[in-house]
Amino acid sequence: MPIRDIQTKPYLDQKAGTAGLRKKVAVFQQPHYLENYLQSIFDCVPELKDGILVIGGDGRYHNRDAIQTTAAIAAANGIARLIIGQGGLLSTPAASMLIRNRRAAGGFLLTASHNPAGPDGDFGIKFNVAGGGQASESLTSRIFEHSKTIARYRRLDGGTIDIDRRGEQHLGSTVVEIVDCVEDYAALMQQLFDFERIRDWLKRGARLRFDAMHAVTGPYARRIFVEQLGAPPDSVMNAVPLEDFGGGHPDPNLIHAKHLAELAHGDDAPDLIAASDGDGDRNMILGRGIFISPGDSLAMLAANLPLLPGYRDGLRGIARSMPTCRAADQVAKALKVPLHETPTGWKFFCNLLDAGQVTICGEESFGTSSSHTREKDGLWAVLAWANVLAATGKSMQEIADTHWTRFGRHYFARHDYEELAAPQAEAVMQAVAAELATLPGRAFADLPVTLADEFSYRDPTDGSIASGQGLRIVCGDEARVVLRLSGTGTRGATLRVYLERYVREAASLHWKTADAVAPLAGAIDRLARIAELTGRRVPDVVT
Ligand code: G1P
Ligand code: ZN
Repeated sequence: MPIRDIQTKPYLDQKAGTAGLRKKVAVFQQPHYLENYLQSIFDCVPELKDGILVIGGDGRYHNRDAIQTTAAIAAANGIARLIIGQGGLLSTPAASMLIRNRRAAGGFLLTASHNPAGPDGDFGIKFNVAGGGQASESLTSRIFEHSKTIARYRRLDGGTIDIDRRGEQHLGSTVVEIVDCVEDYAALMQQLFDFERIRDWLKRGARLRFDAMHAVTGPYARRIFVEQLGAPPDSVMNAVPLEDFGGGHPDPNLIHAKHLAELAHGDDAPDLIAASDGDGDRNMILGRGIFISPGDSLAMLAANLPLLPGYRDGLRGIARSMPTCRAADQVAKALKVPLHETPTGWKFFCNLLDAGQVTICGEESFGTSSSHTREKDGLWAVLAWANVLAATGKSMQEIADTHWTRFGRHYFARHDYEELAAPQAEAVMQAVAAELATLPGRAFADLPVTLADEFSYRDPTDGSIASGQGLRIVCGDEARVVLRLSGTGTRGATLRVYLERYVREAASLHWKTADAVAPLAGAIDRLARIAELTGRRVPDVVT
């Protein structure tokens, strides 16, 4: 099969973001577009040559075409072996784990996460490096710079691969290995969790409902929950991955998975209710009559993790992103392990995980994971909860009540103002930034401000500094408000306001979250002049 050098011109108009390169499908369908991006990566990462490369996606529209293109460019660039998930599927955490376990030089994850899919939807590609983590900021910049001057790409002509047939094939001199997308991942889960115990728990009548939202986790959930753990088949909803995710929006939160909250509060609610997003890295957890916020989930799992086989030796440390509520801090204190507060984005956790300083980490945006992979892992969180419920014999509500009684409760809400004009969003940030120095000592929602600053982070593993990571107003342990602008939006600017209220008294442990954070919402609206500067009286999304 001939390798051809094809003349091209630069196509990328912007650097890949924290979630990779994400665009409308039509953009990716332009001739040479994906090819240019891939070639820029192969040119900038010479270690890929003669190495192993993992490829898989969330199954959305254009996935199969993009895999053929990626394989043809990879083969022309001297990749020794391609490991591809059967049918083109690999969840993001499973791909990251395969890169680690198979000692691959890197991998391409074809996904736009929870963004809607289909011909008019989004597509995306993310490059992960050896070790399984996302490409660093500096590598991403180098790739973008290179893409601005690219003049040719290299492609193997004439070969297609059968991505549905397991086993080895050849593409020029590259070996292509099509693997079962679940097998290695499920084997790792069996090491981390007590499958025997979860099986017993289900046998004794416990009920589970997992919504795969017609995205990539369907095959994983079926194999693990139904075939390996013996849950009834209807425990997994929407298990067949569809190219348009069934027209839905696979983002598991109280808005896009409202039906699960309704199920949880209904008469016949299962014991554990959960969902994952398009590419399987996010998770939402509910129990009978209760929603567990991601910050609480992180704290509760951290507190109970040593009960689970893979974590018997205890925790090395806990990490959370700065805006995530400080519930995990109380657990770290009690367990006497370090708590790391990092900027938003998974890559900051990866350095700590690589350095062996952290066992569990999480973000308020429905992301939780552990040292077993270098991405957040939706199914891992669901299995961890199933194992905790099975090991303790308690209900979700009992686990939460015990936790809150011991550690206190952090009420948390995130208010998003979407598609703002960038100057409006900037003006809000400026309004707060201008007041920061005057805030300490003053009252904020009737609580004294103890700290007001712009968060910056020094990575303990490499000394690098990330500044400008959000404005925070802290009232001791009792309350905190954080403001930052989203780094992942595709239209306009998104302002995120994070509200956190901490209480310890028994009488305060069962408030409504909205009521608990209402005084903070009012106070920040006045200080940041959100309504005046943006014209929005209420947030677009509350999670
Ligand atoms: C959002 C989340 C963040 C997450 C990222 C990628 O980023 O807030 O926690 O890591 O998506 O999934 P943001 O849009 O806030 O920059
Ligand atoms: Zn995702």
